[in-house]
Amino acid sequence: MDSSVIKVSCGALTASDAGKSVEFNGWVHRRRDHGGLIFIDVRDRSGITQVTFDPADAETFARAETLRSEDVVRVAGQVRRRPPGTENPKIATGEVEVPAAELDILNRSLTPPFVIASDEEPAEDVRLRYRYLDLRRPRMQRNLTLRHKLVKAIRDFFDDNDFLEIETPDLIKSTPEGARDYLVPSRVHRGTFYALPQSPQILKQILMIGGLGRYMQIARCFRDEDPRADRQPEFTQVDVEMSFVRQDDVIAMMEASMRYVWQRVLNEAIPDPLPRLTYAEAMRRYGSDKPDLRFDLELVDVADAFKGSGFGLFAALAEHDGNRVIALRYRGGASLSRREFDALTDVARSFGAPGLAYVSFFPNENKGSIGKIITTEIRSALKRATGAHDGDALLFVAGQSKSATDIAGRLRLEIGDRLGLRDASKFAFCWVLGFPLFERDEETGEITFSHHPFTAPLPGQEALFDTDPLAITAQHYDLVLNGYELGSGSIRNHQPEFQRKVFKRLGLTDEQIDDRFGFFMEALSYGAPPHGGMALGIDRIAMIAAGETNIRDVTAFPKNQQARDVMMDAPSTVPQKALEELGLRIVQPPPA
Ligand code: AMO
Repeated sequence: MDSSVIKVSCGALTASDAGKSVEFNGWVHRRRDHGGLIFIDVRDRSGITQVTFDPADAETFARAETLRSEDVVRVAGQVRRRPPGTENPKIATGEVEVPAAELDILNRSLTPPFVIASDEEPAEDVRLRYRYLDLRRPRMQRNLTLRHKLVKAIRDFFDDNDFLEIETPDLIKSTPEGARDYLVPSRVHRGTFYALPQSPQILKQILMIGGLGRYMQIARCFRDEDPRADRQPEFTQVDVEMSFVRQDDVIAMMEASMRYVWQRVLNEAIPDPLPRLTYAEAMRRYGSDKPDLRFDLELVDVADAFKGSGFGLFAALAEHDGNRVIALRYRGGASLSRREFDALTDVARSFGAPGLAYVSFFPNENKGSIGKIITTEIRSALKRATGAHDGDALLFVAGQSKSATDIAGRLRLEIGDRLGLRDASKFAFCWVLGFPLFERDEETGEITFSHHPFTAPLPGQEALFDTDPLAITAQHYDLVLNGYELGSGSIRNHQPEFQRKVFKRLGLTDEQIDDRFGFFMEALSYGAPPHGGMALGIDRIAMIAAGETNIRDVTAFPKNQQARDVMMDAPSTVPQKALEELGLRIVQPPPA
């Protein structure tokens, strides 16, 4: 090609380029044979350009006839406007085409297991097995581009605010975040193991002790737990720690980072300041410690409406403080059919409810499973409490407070889904604060940490350590977006005696503390500054920003639901020799 030929990408050409000689590379997105001509759409990350082949150039035409989807080509030619009436307004290059003067076939592709050009979603296991093909789909290219922009904006924000990005190692000693560790056996020191970081928690605290003041890192974390839509065994955090700060300083900084990122990348202004809820309030009003505030439907306590009413179950439940009788207002729900209420009842059962009581309000009449029992008095009390009108329905969840709250919280989201209130283009951030420092492990009955063992209690609560540890409130804050926990953070225990006290309260002996955390206790003893921080899940940020519902769709190479990489086939067995070098022997589980 001569020097007047301009190298372009597939998404670059517009009408103003007509007449220019260009060359570009890409994949055959689609081929159409039409009216004696061949049309191919050539695709790269930037978009698609239409190329035409005329039989007058017999040799190039013959080669074009062999092209199939996903073959790799180089095309050169002179840009021209498409004939009037054949423009495609749906794509950026839709006004032009390039009649091919040259065509090089750089590589051939096997027939792909799914059509990249199709809007139809391939099966999940096929997508992950052929991830390189899946990544060619415009949706994945858009999502990974967005993720890049988010991470870039995050880095810029923290750089502008005097944070240092510092890499911490991946081969470390266990940092507990409540999950199982991934272990890496040491060859040099037989019988010993590194743990991959569940987060850089201890190391970032040690950076504060090291006098670095403000740290951030785009950090890889590893947790051996079952994958879910918003959870991968390996994921990325924007991890932050600051010295000489109080809770509000960290909150203000993290909030500002999200405001900056949303404005710059999504051109969206988010409220300043963000709303705050206490943990207790979030649970009571929304039935979740990560409330979806895109819609305002609240859990309303209506025990009082039934007290002394003689309405068996609810009246009895209403007499005890440990119970809740919760009503959820389903706007327009009176028009639901019996069958639709049955389906809702099944959903409630799947959340653990024994059944679902409901009433539909009509002018001068109640219908629904408990419609008959609702007296005029109860009807007006319920309407007053919930704001319901005729045409609405109320769903009731009653029982022991914790489980009723949980079930009602999940039903709330179900109603939100059904009414289309959980709009992916809306972003509702909030802070949840005032979590308990400790909780009771439901399996073991032991006291365990709610966040991690380095979180400090609110000042002045030390006395409760020995009397009522479960009543201690932590200096712990969660950032919530659209019903997802985006991040967690806390002010830390910076005094070694106090940190030891927390470890002991968690049931560790002095020997265990010294064995597992001796280095850290020692570090705290050399003038640790007061400090605190937070980590946000980048995968979740990208997922929500992209309008996706699974972090696999914003992760280049995720694991599947069984925590496997099905493209690489990992985890996999290793040669016997490798095991011997590590001093490991595999014990197969006994046959079932
Ligand atoms: P935490 O464990 O709450 O806190 O994690 C912080 C955020 O990381 C994201 N996250 C995950 N994302 C995808 N897959 C996972 N398995 C996963 N686990 C967590 C979430 C979560 O809110 N060291 C503390 C932070 C601190 O106190 O500074 C920590 O890791 O978005």
